Amino acid sequence: MLGQELTRYLSSLGNDIVGVARTNADYNIDISDDEKLIECFEMEKPDIIINTVAIVNLNNCEIDKCKAYLVNSRPAGIISNYCHENDIYFVQISTDHYYTGDNDKKHSENDTIHLLNEYARTKYLAEMLTLTNPNALVIRTNIVGFRGWENDTFVEWALNSLKVEEPINVFEDYYTSSIDVYNFSRILWDLINNKPNGIYNLASSEVFSKKKFIFYLAYSFNLSTSNCTPTRMNNDELRRATSLGLNTEKIENYLGYKLPTLKEVTDSLKKHCEDD
Ligand SMILES: NC(=O)c1ccc[n+]([C@@H]2O[C@H](COP(=O)([O-])OP(=O)(O)OC[C@H]3O[C@@H](n4cnc5c(N)ncnc54)[C@H](OP(=O)(O)O)[C@@H]3O)[C@@H](O)[C@H]2O)c1
Repeated sequence: MLGQELTRYLSSLGNDIVGVARTNADYNIDISDDEKLIECFEMEKPDIIINTVAIVNLNNCEIDKCKAYLVNSRPAGIISNYCHENDIYFVQISTDHYYTGDNDKKHSENDTIHLLNEYARTKYLAEMLTLTNPNALVIRTNIVGFRGWENDTFVEWALNSLKVEEPINVFEDYYTSSIDVYNFSRILWDLINNKPNGIYNLASSEVFSKKKFIFYLAYSFNLSTSNCTPTRMNNDELRRATSLGLNTEKIENYLGYKLPTLKEVTDSLKKHCEDD
């Protein structure tokens, strides 16, 4: 989802972008294959590397913990070290899956972290490995957008359900500050131009429940919410963090502008849906 949009947006600005994934990329390799990864860097001699690769399905991380480490954590250490040795700016895309039990609190970059599952543990380890390089940036975020193929994204699922008025449960006790991949890419580019290092939250300036997000999405797309039943999370099976809100003051002070509100996020999704 994010890699596709970053490629499209950064290319549209005239940058020479090279994509790496297992399929449909310029280099079709597995990121856990260090030799092939370094070979690709040696061929391309990049100025900047942005790592958007991850196993994002929480259950898959629990089922194969070793693979989750080999994809979500270890490559960040390999890339970070390579970038340090070769004077390349490194951006590691991280997560907000670190906070729970405090509802719609906005968490700042140095708030206490709770590592409730393997996804969170592997992403946090990736942050630590990244920051062994003093010239690296870790972005904590929660992104929404369209993938257009393979499994539906959260937004694709929500819009499909709203359009056919299929009954859905919408969580009123699960909070995020999700930002659309379009605004995310634009703001990340502003950061990259200044090359800060350390950890920055890049998210909507507001924290909202999944229920509120779906209601705003429906409003932006002119769809009815009559099929939506507000409900509470059943967190019995897998321990999920539920208070993922991020505080965006640090990045706003750095860049000198406000990050998007929820309405701006859902309107941006609508605008790009129409453009495509
Ligand atoms: N989506 C969210 O809600 C969310 C929230 C917070 C943070 N994030 C973070 O944002 C980043 C991007 O997430 P996304 O939603 O764009 O995920 P996504 O759509 O699932 O994309 C993940 C990418 O990783 C590649 N990949 C997976 N395993 C690989 C491997 N072994 N070797 C090489 N490439 C591999 C996939 O391509 P192939 O399958 O073709 O290899 C795909 O291009 C991730 O770091 C994620 O942790 C996402």
